[in-house]
Amino acid sequence: MQPQSRVKFSLIIPTYNEGKNIGAIVNQLSTLLDAALPEDYELLVVDDDSPDRTWELAQALMSDYPQLRVMRRQQERGLSTAVIRGWQRAQGQVLGVIDGDLQHPPEVLLNLLSAIDQGADLAVASRNAEGGGVSDWSPTRRFLSRGAQMLGLIVLPRVVGRVSDPMSGYFMVRRSAIGGCTLDPLGYKILLEVLGRGNIAEVAEVGYVFQERKEGESKVTWKQYVEYLMHLVKLRISSPSGRLKRLKQKLPFRRFMRFGLVGVSGVFVDMAMFYLLSDPSTLAWGLTRSKILASEVAIVNNFLWNDRWTFGDISSRQRGKRQRLRRFIKFNLVCLAGLILNVLLLNFLFNVLGINRYIANLIAIALVTLWNFWLNLKLSWRVTDTQE
Ligand code: GDD
Ligand code: MN
Repeated sequence: MQPQSRVKFSLIIPTYNEGKNIGAIVNQLSTLLDAALPEDYELLVVDDDSPDRTWELAQALMSDYPQLRVMRRQQERGLSTAVIRGWQRAQGQVLGVIDGDLQHPPEVLLNLLSAIDQGADLAVASRNAEGGGVSDWSPTRRFLSRGAQMLGLIVLPRVVGRVSDPMSGYFMVRRSAIGGCTLDPLGYKILLEVLGRGNIAEVAEVGYVFQERKEGESKVTWKQYVEYLMHLVKLRISSPSGRLKRLKQKLPFRRFMRFGLVGVSGVFVDMAMFYLLSDPSTLAWGLTRSKILASEVAIVNNFLWNDRWTFGDISSRQRGKRQRLRRFIKFNLVCLAGLILNVLLLNFLFNVLGINRYIANLIAIALVTLWNFWLNLKLSWRVTDTQE
């Protein structure tokens, strides 16, 4: 999503065959927003090439409503993608969505906006919050709606449980909360996607009564129920359980993998140098002299890669030659201590515990790699050293 924001608020109105409603809803929304946010908002109708030519009717309104923009999509279809495409084109810091059939009362918009102003990242219009409800729904429809919500609570409690009306299609969210995320929803329920993938710290709810449709007809069929279920499962699969997630955040797996790879590259550098210096066919230096120099070259190699790659994010916050030299010296010391530890461990495992020498060496290397990693993380690339 582009970071540009030239207005405060962008409201998407997804439409499919809403020709009979479009004039009224644009009028009501403009009246409200012209008073609340003069020239600091935009209305974006995203129409999927409706056969009743809603897009054409909307375009004709643009001369009367300068804050109105219209997108006619001919390649793609679907409510959720319409909303996301709209947000991608939108210029507001706050991104919202409202149905185009007047079933969502426009006045509620102002309450949602003030919830955002008071610090919420996401403000949801809810049928199940105080002051909310549905007009006259049949028991079957109520049952289906509640059933779907219960199912969601079972499959995705941490996402669905955060709001009282997870099916709501009337809400607004700060652009910054979803800016870095890839939203890839399925079917109708875009709010699930925002809750599941967005970076939402504070949620606010505003009650509203879901109005009856006066014009046009609903596009909901059994297909939307199936898609809803598939969407829940998809979100469930892509979001690891809380415990695993926390563990992943705590343990620097990625860094450790990188550190290990760099270590392997160091072995090759060491070997090559050792050959060049000590082999009778090349320089034929003494064993110890060759080994010390080869090790040092490998250490320099490892330092450069680790500084750029493994701990690159930390290094970039500790700029300057002096800081870099300090990191290099510490790295050297840690590696040297690691080497001594390596020899001691090998001796202990082989001589005291009687483990096979190669297995003992492998264990020693593995333990020393961990030691090197932790110490370097704590000393050489210490995050607390950063200067802003
Ligand atoms: N662009 C686009 N493409 N718009 C669509 C599509 C589509 O494929 N399908 C539906 N829409 C538009 C409709 O024109 C309408 O403006 C809005 O999306 C909602 O569609 P409805 O068919 O009227 O749905 P609903 O009334 O059963 O349910 C709505 O209200 C619920 C309660 O808040 C939905 O918005 C639900 O998401 C919402 O929870
Ligand atoms: Mn509707």
